[in-house]
Order: sequence, then structure tokens, then C-alpha cells
Amino acid sequence: EQIEKGGYEHFMLKEIFEQPKSVHDTMRGRLLVDEGVIKMAGIWDHVEKFKNANRIIIIACGTSWHAGLIGEYLIEEYARIPVEVEYASEFRYRNPIITDKDVVIAISQSGETADTMAALKLAKEKGAFIYGICNVVDSSIARITDAGSYTHAGPEIGVASTKAFTAQLTILTLIAFKLGKHNGNLGNAEFMSLIAELDAIPKKIEEVLNTTHELTQNIAKDFVKATNFLYLGRGYNYPAALEGALKLKEISYIHAEGYPAAEMKHGPIALIDENMPIVIIAPRKGHYDKIVSNVQEIKARKGKIIAVVNKGDRQVSEMADYVIEIPETSECFSPIVASVPLQLLAYYIAVYRGANVDQPRNLAKSVTVE
Ligand code: G6P
Repeated sequence: EQIEKGGYEHFMLKEIFEQPKSVHDTMRGRLLVDEGVIKMAGIWDHVEKFKNANRIIIIACGTSWHAGLIGEYLIEEYARIPVEVEYASEFRYRNPIITDKDVVIAISQSGETADTMAALKLAKEKGAFIYGICNVVDSSIARITDAGSYTHAGPEIGVASTKAFTAQLTILTLIAFKLGKHNGNLGNAEFMSLIAELDAIPKKIEEVLNTTHELTQNIAKDFVKATNFLYLGRGYNYPAALEGALKLKEISYIHAEGYPAAEMKHGPIALIDENMPIVIIAPRKGHYDKIVSNVQEIKARKGKIIAVVNKGDRQVSEMADYVIEIPETSECFSPIVASVPLQLLAYYIAVYRGANVDQPRNLAKSVTVE
């Protein structure tokens, strides 16, 4: 096992550090920047299905569901196809309206999650076209779908999903750009600049790993005794906030809630005092001014602010107690880059609390029963 961990203390840390490679591997052979092409047979062979779909329904559980939420932002923004994102466990039991004009995308690292599988079967029975995004090759979900794209993240052993998540985001980004280009919603110049930027994301992840590894350890030390955490973000980074909170609760057993920053005033703000750590994802592109005012509201209530911002940020950084800098990207890529320090932060808080990060209590890597 020590050998498999490749010198890292836990699989989770190894997998966090593998992300420059796993994201790159997921794009390899698909993103051809010089030719200006995204090659995805699974999409291309059925492109009319997607183009003519009434809507796309994304179904998933856990971290994969968070990837699905970001998929909704991506596909609606770039391909202008309506998207709904559903928890598989809810979808399967509520007699959902599905027709043969719907495309259902299931996202599952393991490809074995019982609820996701059951929801897919239901959608298939009702005539929807079903598409899979799985990491495990030849898994049950991969086998029953009409088509799909594998994430090439490699085996993920840590129960808390890390590299599979960023690989799922990579696939969803490719799908959104491919469909948008095909149906004319994404013009050629923008497409070319976005794919060039996507191609550089593994480098940015590498950079973020280098610049935040020690920093997140230092921040983690100050929060070992925390009992609650709030994670906030807007737009693409609202699901990233949900995922950041999930990582922390899964492995450290600290209660954590993710929220869209603007919804804070409808509840969570009542919880804020000098004992409440608040992680706020505030990159420059994407509702920055709005986030600034959210941060001011937190500051006025003495919350402890851990801000994830772009390099050179001033306004939010000046108010924050802790600053984590990430490189600037277009908004649509920021969840990939911002998730990395949040994974590290959750990891180190859990390690310093003496938790078993690779095998957290009560959780399973793959939930094959209801
Ligand atoms: C379990 C795992 C999570 C995962 C979820 C969905 O809860 O612990 O890490 O996100 O199942 O799993 P899937 O394999 O369908 O992505």
C-alpha cells in the first residue's frame, strides 16, 4: 500500500496532487487546440439528439451531483440548451416527466451508484437518450447508457472524491464547448480562446498546488477545533462552495454548509459571529462586486474570512483573515482551480484532527445499495 501511495501519506493527498495529470489525461486526444477541434465520438455520433433535445437532465449523487450543477452553468451558458440537475435518489421516486426528446446525462465516478443506476433505467424506459460520464471503465452505468465519455482520472481510492470531480468538470466543459460550437451559440473566436485556456488549466492546477500546499497547512492549524464552517460562492463557484463544504464534512466531521453567497441573508447570516469560519470563493471574473458586499456583511459580524481570490486581489483580501491566491481564469474554469486549495484545506484540517481521511467513518466509496 505504501508503494501505491507513491510516497504520499494518504491516497487522498496523492489524488489531489495527481490533478494536473488527470485533467490533462481527460482532455488528451479530445482537445486538439492547434486544429481548433474538440473530438468526442460519444457526443458527435449523437449530436442531433443533443441539438434537438427539449432539455438535458443531469442525474448524480454526492460530489458527482456538484459537478452536474457546474455542468448546468456550462451547458446553458455555452450551448444554450436548458439543463436540470437532479439528485438521482429524488428523481427516481417522484414520477418525473421524461420524454424521448430529453437527454439524460448520468455522472458517476464508480459507475455503480444504485440510485443513479435506477434513475437511469427509469429514464431509459421512458425513452430518453441516456449518456454516461463515468470514471470506472465498463462499470454498470457505463454499460447501460446509449453513449458516454469516460473521465480518465485513473483509479480513485480515497473515499472523498477529488481528481474524479475535476475530471468530470473537464468533460462537462468539453461537452458544453463542443455543443455550443456545433449549434452556433459559441462563435469561433471565443471557442478558440476558451479551448486554449482549457488546455492551460493543468498548468494552473500545478501552480496552485505549489503555491497553496504549505499555506493551506498553516490555515488548517488554526481551525482544528472549529465546529462549523460556511462556504460561499456565486455563479460557477456556488457549486464549488457546496463541494468544498462536502469535502470538509466528509473527512474532518466538522459541520459545514455551502451556500450561494447572496442567499446568506436569508438564513446563514444569523450564524455569523467571531467563531464562524467562512470560506468565500471570490475570483475577479464572476460577480466580484457582489461578493465584495457579501464579504463586507460578514466582516461587520466579525466572521473569520478565508478568501480564495485571484493573484493581486485587493478589495476582498484587505477584509479577509486568510488569503488563498489562485491564478485568474475565465469564470467557467474557476471551479476547477478553486477546488484544489479547498481539497487541501479539508485534507489538512482532517489530518490534524487525527481523522482517517482515506476511510472516513460511515462512508463508502461506492454506494451500491439504496
Ligand atoms: C459516495 C462517495 C462520494 C461520491 C458519491 C457518488 O457517497 O463517497 O465520493 O461522490 O458516492 O458516487 P459516484 O461513484 O456515483 O460518483
